[in-house]
Amino acid sequence: MHDRLFIPGPVEVRPELLKAVASPQVGHRTQAYMDVHSATIPLLKKILYTEQEVLLFTCSATGVMEGSLRNLCQKKALLTVNGAFSKRWYQIAGFNGIPADKLEVPMGKAVMPEDLDKALATGQYDVFCAVFNETSTGVRAPLEKYSEVLKKYPDVMFCVDAVSAMAGDKIETDKLGLDVCLAGTQKCWGLPTGMCVTMISNKAMAKAATAKAPGYYVNFVDAKKYNDKHQTPHTPAIPILFGLHAQCNHIVNVEGLDNRWKRHLDMQKLTHQWVKEAGFELFPEKGYESVTLSCIKKPDGFDFKTLNGQLSKKHHCVISNGYGDIKEQTFRIAHMADTTVDEMKQLFKWIDAILAETHVSA
Ligand SMILES: Cc1ncc(COP(=O)(O)O)c(C=O)c1O
Repeated sequence: MHDRLFIPGPVEVRPELLKAVASPQVGHRTQAYMDVHSATIPLLKKILYTEQEVLLFTCSATGVMEGSLRNLCQKKALLTVNGAFSKRWYQIAGFNGIPADKLEVPMGKAVMPEDLDKALATGQYDVFCAVFNETSTGVRAPLEKYSEVLKKYPDVMFCVDAVSAMAGDKIETDKLGLDVCLAGTQKCWGLPTGMCVTMISNKAMAKAATAKAPGYYVNFVDAKKYNDKHQTPHTPAIPILFGLHAQCNHIVNVEGLDNRWKRHLDMQKLTHQWVKEAGFELFPEKGYESVTLSCIKKPDGFDFKTLNGQLSKKHHCVISNGYGDIKEQTFRIAHMADTTVDEMKQLFKWIDAILAETHVSA
């Protein structure tokens, strides 16, 4: 029996989706492939509230984080840094020789829109990158506020890493004026890893067409050219596309978008209530808590290893330790993808019982 994952990705994949992923393979230049590809894109556009491009890249999210900078930055990039993944995006700029500055705040906090405005007003930047949901800290960035600021700077590309939020937390990409919004399939999409779903604005496509060194593999112009033919430039992760098609159908036509967003909010509310009742404390500053995962402070002497070991041994499920610089100070519980409120209630009952038995309570 496998351990059910309550970690912030990869996540538990529904049996129906595992079946879709394991469908007999087809050639990626065949009509059979193109039929699934062309049926999936409009559903993705609905889920991302966009009438612009949605492209599929066969790589994990990091590939498109790098690709966004290479395709769009011609001057200098400005990036928020408030956790491990936003720090990674800043480092990626350096690895590519792309000039970049960071707007850094301590882990657990979000970058404030006033500081963003001040930095953009210098006129140095043509790309702004923000991680919407910092998976390492459980901080949800104020995207709506950033969006208001970005309206003053129409030449600045607004790129968002929505890796642990997309398909779990509602993101109205066109309304927010996003130029790139990206996420891998192994988190709120509830699928195995292998593809990066990427919304790209028409403005970003036009800019990518003027890039001097956009890169070969994650090349926006090339990807759009093939997407227009319901294909991808290189061999795609065909099993993941089959799963993504089934999942998009489920999200749009079975669960319904509003129900999906509400279920995630309900799970967040339940988790916050449990955190309080169990005597724990959330790591992110109040008002900036993620909808899809909770990062929780470990009280002094808290034995996370024993708790997680017992969860696995007795109940065949696991939660997650902290990540990066705050690995020892925090632990994380995901409430994303196709997890239900009842499953979360059950998980908390199990945790409460183990904490009581082992005296590793908060
Ligand atoms: C917010 C965020 N950004 C980027 C990444 C990198 O994604 P990947 O490892 O799939 O490339 C992750 C992975 O957990 C993440 O949580």
